[in-house]
Amino acid sequence: MPALAISENILCVGVQHPDRKMFDCLMPTPHGTSYNSYLIKGTQKTALIDTVDPDFFEVYLRKLKTLEIKAIDYIILLHTEQDHSGSVVELLKYYPDARLVATSNVIKLIRTHLHIPAEQFTVMEEGDVLDLGEHTLTFRKIPFAHWPDNTMVYESKSKILFTSDLFGSHYASNRVFATASHEIKEAARAYYAEIMMPFSPQVRKYTEMVISIAPSMIASSHGPVWNDPSLILNKYLKWTGDKVNKTVVIPYVSMHGSSNVIMERLTWRLAKKGISVLCRNLGADPESLAVETGHVLNDLVTAAAVVFAIPTVLGGPHPAGAYCAMVVNALRPKTRFIGLVGSYGWGTKIEEVFVSLTSGLKKAHRLETLLFEGLPTEEDLLKVDQYADDLAEKILALGDELL
Ligand code: FEO
Repeated sequence: MPALAISENILCVGVQHPDRKMFDCLMPTPHGTSYNSYLIKGTQKTALIDTVDPDFFEVYLRKLKTLEIKAIDYIILLHTEQDHSGSVVELLKYYPDARLVATSNVIKLIRTHLHIPAEQFTVMEEGDVLDLGEHTLTFRKIPFAHWPDNTMVYESKSKILFTSDLFGSHYASNRVFATASHEIKEAARAYYAEIMMPFSPQVRKYTEMVISIAPSMIASSHGPVWNDPSLILNKYLKWTGDKVNKTVVIPYVSMHGSSNVIMERLTWRLAKKGISVLCRNLGADPESLAVETGHVLNDLVTAAAVVFAIPTVLGGPHPAGAYCAMVVNALRPKTRFIGLVGSYGWGTKIEEVFVSLTSGLKKAHRLETLLFEGLPTEEDLLKVDQYADDLAEKILALGDELL
């Protein structure tokens, strides 16, 4: 994608990475991603906001050369993670007079991650302003909008807010601006689930702060620019709020059919009670685990409950179920109920291990565990019906707390 202007003298000069399959070796990125970098030409100074993943440095440099950018006065780093800062050392070889600019939080992390000493930076703290001539940039710290160092910058002339990882999406596109398409919103939701959800109380505060700033555009470090900020801000208000959907997510694994029978009966009975159910098969094929775990996280942005339906393997939970439970635990969804149903061959300690793996979900009410030896009988399935009825009743009793 060529450099594109998002406003007068403000250019998007980042790179697209459409065939990236995974992020952080953890999150599937079916739409690829982008590493956004923005160039702002003031009447007196030129600043670059963030760089790109170092694997794309050559592409990035070519783009800057095509624009005939002969001098950069400031390279502003909003965040240390290397997909944004990783090209800075190479870039300085081509623009040796550029001064690095960042908050003390970034400078502290850059020292250990990229070995750049603090002396190379001009420090900007909360509310500090960098004047480029016509364009002034105000710095706002947004710690844990992924890492402790994330920073926003507000540009005064065009009222553009550069938000680092916040409000991003893993979505490669030749279009610089986001549309209202379902696909882009889903990409933004998956990104929220996998990156922002563990920090939802802070992210809620930042969302409210951004609404009060009322920017004309939100330019994140990943994905298209939101030129209608309400599209993403309204979503973040919903995702970071307390309300949940009448939905149960069932991540499941079934080796010989027993857990499958339980999952199907649970689904049927919950649906009969007016509850939506999303079943995610963690063991269907070699790629299922990462992809379906991603879907589970996406579902849990708003779902009221999660019930794992998994068998016992060598005394503990099937490893695919254990992996998914561990990731859900780490990402701290607002789910109100968590449960375990499943099967075992001749003995099991699955419940102890599962409880330990999900011990971080302290706000979720833990449902009674239901385990069956071998293939469930008709009598066993009546217990599943009762389990479903009890859960449906609990969810419906949430009343005004439902979306
Ligand atoms: Fe896209 Fe936290 O870096």
